[in-house]
Amino acid sequence: MTAQRIAILISGNGTNMAEIIKAQKRGGLDADIAIVISDNPDAPGLRRASGLDCSILAVPYAPGRTREENESGIIQAIEQNGVSWIVLAGFMRILSADFVRRYPGRIVNIHPSLLPAFPGAHAIKDAFEAGADITGVTIHIVDELVDHGPVIAQEEVPILPGDTLDTLETRIHAVEHRLYPKTLQALLSEDI
Ligand code: GAR
Repeated sequence: MTAQRIAILISGNGTNMAEIIKAQKRGGLDADIAIVISDNPDAPGLRRASGLDCSILAVPYAPGRTREENESGIIQAIEQNGVSWIVLAGFMRILSADFVRRYPGRIVNIHPSLLPAFPGAHAIKDAFEAGADITGVTIHIVDELVDHGPVIAQEEVPILPGDTLDTLETRIHAVEHRLYPKTLQALLSEDI
């Protein structure tokens, strides 16, 4: 059977993306990473992906355009690359309902909280400032709502008495980096 092809969508550092690529290279993820796409041409993650020998594409987000117009270049790249799974790894744009409906059950997202708690772009800070005892990481299938859809993996991360936002972020990212490649492998091999 030919390997399933993945597009990874990023906006920033791309540390989760890099862990997914590294897992694939060492045989821990049975898929082809077809392309890494960023809405931000300056995303450090694009350089990181190049350094890992991945094809990259910047589809710069233009504020004056509709969501659908901004997504058309992404859709084109997905279609041209024969992609069957879309993996969001710190992609910070809200996808249009049309985009989500085009790939039903085929878009996966990682979010740094125990959803439904603390959705949005600043989940780690929001949990920290709310004085929560526990936060964590959620991996889910994307539906038409923001940071929403069937959960496929979740792991708790306690917020410890001496934690700063930095120490908490470091522990959450460490969980993300372990959990995302492992969960994608289970999902693609139909273990979930
Ligand atoms: C990750 O913590 C991811 O969970 C989060 O952005 C970060 C990206 O880091 N995503 C969201 O907040 C989505 N709502 P990375 O670019 O280093 O992988």
